[in-house]
Amino acid sequence: MEIRSFNPPIRTLMGPGPSDVHPRILEAMSRPTIGHLDPLFIGMMEEVKQLLQYAFQTENALTMPVSAPGSAGMESCFVNLVEPGDKVIVCQNGVFGGRMKENVERCGGTPVIVQDAWGRAVDPQKLEDALKANPDAKIVAFVHAETSTGAQSDAKTLVELSHKYDCLTIVDAVTSLGGTPVKVDEWQVDAIYSGTQKCLSCAPGLSPVSFGERALERIAARESKVQSWFLDQNLVMGYWGGGAKRAYHHTAPVNTLYGLHEALVMLQDEGLDNAWRRHQGNHNALKAGLESMGLEFIVPKEERLPQLNAVSIPEGVDDAAVRGRLLNEYNLEIGAGLGDLAGKVWRIGLMGHASRAENILLCVGALEAVLSDMGAPINTGVALSAVQTALK
Ligand SMILES: Cc1ncc(COP(=O)(O)O)c(C=O)c1O
Repeated sequence: MEIRSFNPPIRTLMGPGPSDVHPRILEAMSRPTIGHLDPLFIGMMEEVKQLLQYAFQTENALTMPVSAPGSAGMESCFVNLVEPGDKVIVCQNGVFGGRMKENVERCGGTPVIVQDAWGRAVDPQKLEDALKANPDAKIVAFVHAETSTGAQSDAKTLVELSHKYDCLTIVDAVTSLGGTPVKVDEWQVDAIYSGTQKCLSCAPGLSPVSFGERALERIAARESKVQSWFLDQNLVMGYWGGGAKRAYHHTAPVNTLYGLHEALVMLQDEGLDNAWRRHQGNHNALKAGLESMGLEFIVPKEERLPQLNAVSIPEGVDDAAVRGRLLNEYNLEIGAGLGDLAGKVWRIGLMGHASRAENILLCVGALEAVLSDMGAPINTGVALSAVQTALK
């Protein structure tokens, strides 16, 4: 068989990510590739760092994208900050806290797990109890926006508590950055990472990170070498932090960085406050439509993420068949449940460029059509007008 060019269909991406990439960003990524040490490219890298400082709301000098997806940003925080023998408190309320635990173990550290129910925020009281019980803990790690459940934790309070007990903090902001407030300096976060494929509307493959002063001091005081050559921030900064004198470390993903630059310019032009408001407003409209059909959110209202909406699958409905029909008949992707929630929930993303009125109307209309055609126990004929009323 002769293999030909791959031409994907145009889908509407309303799952847990990647989310819709804005056409302006796709166009930016198709611009001519130049050398990654070309002075013009270096000038663009400086702008990316500055724009990321805005997105993260920080003046941290060490703010840059890791050349790999969100998991590499996560790993970058752990390998640089955790040394063999270190005790790390990991708050787990979904899939990604579990991945943090893995990271601690692979760095030779000892994880202490603070467990919360899937679909709930991290409980600050449980963290404080763990901090009291483990006075030798050095780091607290938690996921700000748990994509596997749609729960948002109170990062400010969790960081404050961690500092009260002399712990540094590692925060996962993969799904929160650009969609819901992330205030690195105000909250005094020590190390944070994100991803480009969620609320930044960019293609997958980069992981913005930021390290604060206390984290840099910890890295400088390490007794052992960072176990990963690629993610060792001391080496990476020779490239990203070197200004005109920058030295080769690895070949930067040039065109993906054009995309991130464009995404961050768009975020700057919209303004963070407006982006956060847009995500919240569109969540309210989607919620009105889904609830009018009779679908129920799994996360309590005050702990809900606007950009990731997890709803229970109605009794007797075939999860995979519904998602398959949405994909094949409407070119619409929504997410399945992950881990403990597999087969029990749908995860509907309203992230970045995907967070817009036409997507909500498509999703609610398509879900209603498919579910009623399959004889599911939902209310019909009310959802679209509920969305339209909420959008006004
Ligand atoms: C909260 C969270 N952390 C980490 C990751 C890992 O990011 P990636 O898949 O880009 O490696 C994801 C991906 O969905 C995520 O949602």
